[in-house]
Amino acid sequence: MNIKTIDLSKRYNKKGSPDIEVLKNINLEIKSGEKVAFTGPSGAGKSTLVHILGLMDRPTSGKVFAGDKDCFASSDGYLCSMRKENIGFVFQFHYLLSDFTVLENVLLPVWKDRAEKLKKAEGVLEKAGLSHRKNHFPNELSGGEQQRAALARALINDPKIIFADEPTGNLDRATGMEVEKLLFESSSERGATLVLVTHNEELAAKSDRIIKMTDGQIK
Ligand SMILES: Nc1ncnc2c1ncn2[C@@H]1O[C@H](COP(=O)(O)OP(=O)(O)OP(=O)(O)O)[C@@H](O)[C@H]1O
Ligand SMILES: [Mg+2]
Repeated sequence: MNIKTIDLSKRYNKKGSPDIEVLKNINLEIKSGEKVAFTGPSGAGKSTLVHILGLMDRPTSGKVFAGDKDCFASSDGYLCSMRKENIGFVFQFHYLLSDFTVLENVLLPVWKDRAEKLKKAEGVLEKAGLSHRKNHFPNELSGGEQQRAALARALINDPKIIFADEPTGNLDRATGMEVEKLLFESSSERGATLVLVTHNEELAAKSDRIIKMTDGQIK
């Protein structure tokens, strides 16, 4: 699925202080199946942008199209089902729920249909090399395993767009590489669009295109 933004802006205002302009008129297009890496200094607005592209946050002004749908002109119900059916998100911190096993965590996005999705969940966990750990709890896993479980959870619905915001930021180099490999392979296998934020130049170089952000703008 392709993504397009038109004059996307995000501002925060706090009483008594000037507005903070975090994203300034961003116009960009990401093709279906493309792998794009956002890089840039801390505070440039990378996370803010991918959260909006992933429909988890709203812009102050401007549009986001996913496919040919003007997402923020649509109802909350549409945004919700769009997120659920088409989008997978992996964060810097895994955000696995500690009281649920790895398998249950992977099933969370489809909890209502968990019985029929069980085989699928076991499949994505196998691909992530975690079959033997599926009944363990997140705190019994290493950092790399936790992040692979988070990726498995993002893949349970075969998303058409995978977002990853510094997915290897907390891992050592070797462990990070395992997660990266899985992320790139999973996107390629599904023909999914991959939108990655990273400070790692080696990882960025593996994408089809690097988009540099500075001070809320694309350079
Ligand atoms: N709720 C908020 N209110 C005010 N400013 C905010 C808010 N959330 C984020 N910001 C500001 O927006 C700017 C962009 O933040 P963002 O997290 O998108 O940066 P980033 O490029 O992802 O940085 P990093 O590489 O450190 O993750 C920062 O200056 C941040 O302080
Ligand atoms: Mg960030």
